[in-house]
Amino acid sequence: MRVLRVPPDFEVWRTMAREALREGWAPEQMDFQDNTVPAPMNLDLSSTESPQSRNIEHPFVPKTFLESAKLGAVHRDSDRWNLLYRLLFRLQRNRELMRVEIDDDVAHLKQMEQQVRRDLHKMHAFVRFRKIEEADAAGKPQEHFIAWYRPDHRIVPLAAPFFAERFAIMRWTVLTPDETMSWDPEAKALSFGPGVGKEAAPQEDELEDLWRTYYGSIFNPARLNPSAMRNEMPVRYWQHLPEVTLLPVLMQQAESRVATMVTRQSRQPSAAPFVPEEHTLPVLRAAMPSCKGCDLYKYATQVVPGVGGAHAPLMLVGEQPGDQEDIKGAPFVGPAGRVLRQAMEELGIVDSNIFMTNAVKHFKFVQRGKLRLHQNPRSGELNACRPWLAAEIEAVKPKVVLCLGASAAKSLLGGTFALMKERGVIKPTPYADQVLATIHPSAVLRARDEQSRDSLYQFMKDDLALAYSTALGKT
Ligand code: URA
Repeated sequence: MRVLRVPPDFEVWRTMAREALREGWAPEQMDFQDNTVPAPMNLDLSSTESPQSRNIEHPFVPKTFLESAKLGAVHRDSDRWNLLYRLLFRLQRNRELMRVEIDDDVAHLKQMEQQVRRDLHKMHAFVRFRKIEEADAAGKPQEHFIAWYRPDHRIVPLAAPFFAERFAIMRWTVLTPDETMSWDPEAKALSFGPGVGKEAAPQEDELEDLWRTYYGSIFNPARLNPSAMRNEMPVRYWQHLPEVTLLPVLMQQAESRVATMVTRQSRQPSAAPFVPEEHTLPVLRAAMPSCKGCDLYKYATQVVPGVGGAHAPLMLVGEQPGDQEDIKGAPFVGPAGRVLRQAMEELGIVDSNIFMTNAVKHFKFVQRGKLRLHQNPRSGELNACRPWLAAEIEAVKPKVVLCLGASAAKSLLGGTFALMKERGVIKPTPYADQVLATIHPSAVLRARDEQSRDSLYQFMKDDLALAYSTALGKT
């Protein structure tokens, strides 16, 4: 048996594996040991065996294998390097192997890949930063956000780009037992260092209070379901969440808060008193800035009315303005808008045939440092803003309304609408005779990989094509 000790680095394993294939080592002759696990006492790195397989100079490495292998490589399964070598070796004889889902090796790798993806998803959601004040190189005070987190797998390098993008203007460090990652917002550079214990992270600070206030205000007692909460957020993760200290109190108060919510139902926020009787676009546009139908007007820069053809046959309804739309005062002028426009261009859609607007007219966000992070509107906000949307539909009288994403669909097609099941199906509603829904362009942007991005984009484009041809009376 030829034993190789492999550090936790996919590229190092890749070089070793290529070398082994070139020399003709069969998987049964190889033992790629995980060097983060202590070596056995009797480890013997010398081998008297000679390779028993044919030499492979230029191995066939399909993309499907490479993508899964990169994720599988960070799994803690100590046998993962051997599994990857076995698969790589077998792929040289069976180029379609990765498609054989019932194959034990393929199934094992897919399962590891799924566990790693889930771990990444949890890390993205549950890392909580604490702020510390420190001195920069010139001795000036600067803010540094620190988090401690224990992922199941060695995912830190894979998780890093998400944090770099999300918290680009903050100086931050995430400490984990395996590795530390830091972001320098001036150099726009990530760096990695050795892992540390939890004690290296600062304990208490004002951010914790902020999180608690936030969590206390989003907690919906009517939906209290502790077992669902435990499923979504296994107890193991709770230790990282400052809001956890609030949970027992919130749970105790749940019943009385439900009662309060019920009495409040009768005085729900609504834009209705602010919507003028005359439903024409210029009149609606002039009236919208004075709306105080819900609280969102207090924080947004401005209201964002719909734009486009005054009698467009197709109306596109987004969720709410984003950061860019809030600043510029027009819908879909940011990254999601670019995706939408690309699809429109590819389909040859003429601008004057489209009216674009949103289910909610003000940007809803949480301020995190200098960042404004988008927040989904609640049902109360969708309901409050619906009179504006209904008035815009009445003014434009589109033949077809296409809802982009779940929030817009909820507003016009009802709270039980299931986007992925019912997308692309045209239905009558009280607001317009032909309403359908599709994927939101920002879901395309957020897709977890290229493959799902392509298919989400294609869904959106297909539904847009259907909506457009129906609106023009072509089907
Ligand atoms: N997302 C939306 O739903 N609407 C916009 O206007 C921009 C982004």
